[in-house]
Amino acid sequence: MALLGMLLGLLMASCFTFCLSHQNPEFALTSPEKSSTKEAERKETTAEEELDSEVLEVFHPTHEWQALRPGQAVPVGSHVRLNLQTGAREVKLQEEDKFQSNLKALKKGKRLDINANTYTSQDLKSALAKFKEGTEVESSKEDKARQAKIKQLFRPIEELKKDFEELNVVIETDMQIMVRLINKFNSSSSSLEEKIAALFDLEYYVHQMDNAQDLLSFGGLQVVINGLNSTEPLVKEYAAFVLGAAFSSNPKVQVEAIEGGALQKLLVILATEQPLTAKKKVLFALCSLLRHFPYAQQQFLKLGGLQVLRTLVQAKGTEVLAVRVVTLLYDLVTEKMFAEEEAELTQETSPEKLQQYRQVHLLPGLREQGWCEITAHLLALPEHDAREKVLQTLGALLATCRDRYHQDPQLSRTLVSLQAEYQALATLELQDGEDEGYFRELLGSINSLLKELR
Ligand SMILES: *[C@@H]1O[C@H](CO)[C@@H](O)[C@H](O)[C@H]1NC(C)=O
Ligand SMILES: *[C@@H]1O[C@H](CO)[C@@H](O)[C@H](O)[C@H]1NC(C)=O
Repeated sequence: MALLGMLLGLLMASCFTFCLSHQNPEFALTSPEKSSTKEAERKETTAEEELDSEVLEVFHPTHEWQALRPGQAVPVGSHVRLNLQTGAREVKLQEEDKFQSNLKALKKGKRLDINANTYTSQDLKSALAKFKEGTEVESSKEDKARQAKIKQLFRPIEELKKDFEELNVVIETDMQIMVRLINKFNSSSSSLEEKIAALFDLEYYVHQMDNAQDLLSFGGLQVVINGLNSTEPLVKEYAAFVLGAAFSSNPKVQVEAIEGGALQKLLVILATEQPLTAKKKVLFALCSLLRHFPYAQQQFLKLGGLQVLRTLVQAKGTEVLAVRVVTLLYDLVTEKMFAEEEAELTQETSPEKLQQYRQVHLLPGLREQGWCEITAHLLALPEHDAREKVLQTLGALLATCRDRYHQDPQLSRTLVSLQAEYQALATLELQDGEDEGYFRELLGSINSLLKELR
């Protein structure tokens, strides 16, 4: 990571120490934090992203350079540089946005890396000197030089590659990077920090479907799945983080994961004493594994997954998890319904997918294990979006839970009080000119539930 940072730094330094106006008096390499590029490229998916800030201690940059301590996370868009004199990583707020986008344009999806064995900071210094010579010649010729500078900012990747080859810097493919990260994680000589860092980086790569499938080809997925067995909660957490991304809408990987025992391991973590942050990521991985994969859903039910989730949501201080669990159940219930509808519409004679869904006996399980009541009680949560999810789920479970809802006097009372609350909010919304507003929609769900229950 540090070396990658230095290399990005080389790029950046060549841009702004010399192309710009020699404003930077210190000799230091500067780069935008890698994660900012990551974030921009990353599929915007999950509620998972919001979790990351809770995990690492977050550093709050100012306009001054400040040293970064190990383990501190940097907000997206910060500038990070390696101070060659002290060896410390330093951070400040991002100012030169255009250089960052230039850098992105240069990188064009390829990632650069350094051959650690042959690389020294002396190489870098002489490389920088070379860059400097080049630019000074140009800058003497005013406008023409200006154009040349701009051109240099957009040098083709091949040309850059040549420069880096001279420095024994190689451009790795995603596959090579993943192999390296897995080896790092799998090596008994790696420290805990190195292992976590390897998983953190790996997560970025496996968002891409092809990469996640490549992970299968050299046994990398199994190594990560085995990471769920680690005695270190952080390793469990970050292994789940990688798996959640790798499973996501990727049937090939989902199938391998079931065969590799991922489901049991995820459930064991959810059923045992673990930090909440680990459970969140594990729940996320479980969702990714089950979605659109009826076979995994069957196994989940067979392994007592519903009991595990019930214990989880009934524990104190797990409201955040409870809403996610209910959302998962809602997704599974509706997924099966859609499969039925789709089969009916397309009139398939032997729809295998439907056969598979028919083996998922989710609704009876939910009813038997008290999910009608559990879901109804979650309506007491104060957040609108939590209530929205709960209302959706109550609606989806109506046919299954109708009598249970009837026997729950608290449910009607809660619905009536929410009706009043959202009536008022919907009126305000309407006054603001929103005739298809959020609160109005919530009110609609409440009204139709109340109607069903009368
Ligand atoms: C991980 O390490 C184990 C034991 O050291 C080894 O047997 C296995 O081949 C390694 N797996 C990968 C994918 O490198
Ligand atoms: C991981 O742990 C489970 C129980 O939690 C155990 O059954 C399994 O054998 C372990 N696997 C490895 C590879 O250690």
